[in-house]
Amino acid sequence: MTSYNVGFLVGSISSTSINRRLAQALVKLAPQAQLSLTEIPIAGLPLYSADHDASIPAEAADFKRAIEGADGMVIVSPEYNRSVPGVLKNALDTASRPWGQNSFAGTPTAIIGTSAGALATAAAQQHLRLILSFLDAPTMMQPEAYVRTVDGLIAEDGRVTDPSLAEFLLTWLRAVHAHIAKQGDAG
Ligand SMILES: Cc1cc2nc3c(=O)[nH]c(=O)nc-3n(C[C@H](O)[C@H](O)[C@H](O)COP(=O)(O)O)c2cc1C
Repeated sequence: MTSYNVGFLVGSISSTSINRRLAQALVKLAPQAQLSLTEIPIAGLPLYSADHDASIPAEAADFKRAIEGADGMVIVSPEYNRSVPGVLKNALDTASRPWGQNSFAGTPTAIIGTSAGALATAAAQQHLRLILSFLDAPTMMQPEAYVRTVDGLIAEDGRVTDPSLAEFLLTWLRAVHAHIAKQGDAG
């Protein structure tokens, strides 16, 4: 089975982020799904301005190159006010420009997120799907992944304490692999 290099974005810059923990859990489980997951950091990106189109800041250029070099992308994000956190939206705006140089175009992408709330990021993920459709990123439809956090569900080192969640995440990662493979076959 082909192995793929997948970049991931964490839509939170909190030092105690539960979504970062979820990302760590995915990194640990990924080899079993023939994926290698590497974070592409978003915290140091400047706030996007159209002024950057004429002269792309170095951090933004590196960020865009990293996405373009990945076989696929995973976005792990919290929900802020029923939508996508500003830091993540800034990263996606940065990736999308200058016009005609959209780094997400054609990149197979999958989304997942966790919160303690009952909807477990479902509303944010719908907004994210809308953004990714405009960015022309073929986005995995199923299985959807809304992870409801409870204390201790994922340890600081990314170890998942609930076997049924670990099994679900592995199934999800295998679907990410199949999604990337399918896009490769189509291209
Ligand atoms: C500005 C703000 C808005 C939030 N809005 C939502 C929300 O709409 N839905 C939700 O489930 N949780 C919401 N939360 C709670 C977050 O899910 C919670 O803070 C979570 O820990 C954030 O993820 P992180 O730990 O990965 O940063 C919000 C938190 C903040 C700070």
